[in-house]
Amino acid sequence: MDFLELSKARFTAKKFDPAKKISDGDIAKLKEILRLSPSSVNSQPWVFLFGSSDSAKQKIRPAIADFNWPRTDTCSHFVIIAVRDGLDEKFQKEVLQKEIEDGRLLSEEIAKEQYESRKYFIGLREAAGTTVTWEEKQAYIAMTTLLYGSASLGINSTPIEGFDERRLDKLLGLDNYGLRSVLVVTLGYDAENDHNATRPKSRLPLEKVVWDMK
Ligand SMILES: Cc1cc2nc3c(=O)[nH]c(=O)nc-3n(C[C@H](O)[C@H](O)[C@H](O)COP(=O)(O)O)c2cc1C
Repeated sequence: MDFLELSKARFTAKKFDPAKKISDGDIAKLKEILRLSPSSVNSQPWVFLFGSSDSAKQKIRPAIADFNWPRTDTCSHFVIIAVRDGLDEKFQKEVLQKEIEDGRLLSEEIAKEQYESRKYFIGLREAAGTTVTWEEKQAYIAMTTLLYGSASLGINSTPIEGFDERRLDKLLGLDNYGLRSVLVVTLGYDAENDHNATRPKSRLPLEKVVWDMK
């Protein structure tokens, strides 16, 4: 399916068929799709927490807005997209080391330039006190990657902002890892009586949202 067809077909699932589980093979693909998400200056400020067991669902439930329980209770898997509470030099060096190992930076000089340039851009956010806000923007890119990646595998999904982020952090002890949750995405196969599956898509007209510059 080309991307336009996928964009027309993808929709937000409001409840899943609890009997249908995503295969381990597809979950492995989704993990890799998430790992490959692009991010500004290749900062990769995220951690993706996967859950599927009843106990994991129960654990997050108190932080999820009640109107979203039909998604989290019935999904096959959920993913919490979290970001780091700041990107310190140790982390920046880890990213650089991986880029060197992956063969992206072919000389010490290029590696040094890469390190300094990323440090500069992160420093701008630190000076403005907006590092986490900037990291959250990257989390939304990963979320979008996951929504369309799962659709490409025939898996339905729900992006979820309707939850108490700081409560979820406490419930999962994310603070201890220096992480802050940003988004939850539920995944699975749509329930037969999900009213959202048959509703037509509604978007503002093209000319309202896309402007061609002269
Ligand atoms: C960032 C984001 C957060 C959202 N949060 C929720 C949510 O908490 N619960 C929910 O049922 N839908 C949520 N949605 C789904 C939107 O309402 C939905 O994407 C929109 O109405 C367009 O419909 P479609 O995704 O079916 O095309 C969210 C969507 C996005 C992109």
